[in-house]
Amino acid sequence: MTLLTVLTVPDSRLRIKAKPVSVFDEKLSILFDDMLETMYVEDGAGLAAPQVGIDLRVVVMDVSERENESCVYKMVNPEVTWRSKELSVCNEGCLSVPEQRAEISRPAAIKMHYLDENGVLQHIETDGFLATCIQHEMDHLDGKLYIDYLSTLKRQMYINKVKRIKKYESEN
Ligand code: NI
Repeated sequence: MTLLTVLTVPDSRLRIKAKPVSVFDEKLSILFDDMLETMYVEDGAGLAAPQVGIDLRVVVMDVSERENESCVYKMVNPEVTWRSKELSVCNEGCLSVPEQRAEISRPAAIKMHYLDENGVLQHIETDGFLATCIQHEMDHLDGKLYIDYLSTLKRQMYINKVKRIKKYESEN
């Protein structure tokens, strides 16, 4: 397995609209393995392909810790088909915005579908942490980050903090 480099803000590659996957081959399964490995090493609950500079609608998630069972998801071309009017607030973080967190409000429950690594259609109806996680990761596929839900001022503050962290890391 190969560890991939996670891009951080303000990298413009985080802002692309990723392309749908049409081929389910060995390359895709290697990408899934590499993304999961990278996510575990970086201690994240989810990772979207654009975060590692890959322009595809591919997402991995592991919400096992929170849901108390093995919940590893490998999603291709995910689509939300229903969002609840009711909102819920979750304290979100993101590997592309390291060491920062913020309270973000999103629809509390969703219905969605995706293709698994074999190209088989799967449906999910969920709420709670998984619903938040899916929406957060899917935003990445459209070039959107959770900090976009914050005020311009706060967003810029977060980006500046990440720039300082990265500068420090590269000098030490
Ligand atoms: Ni993220």
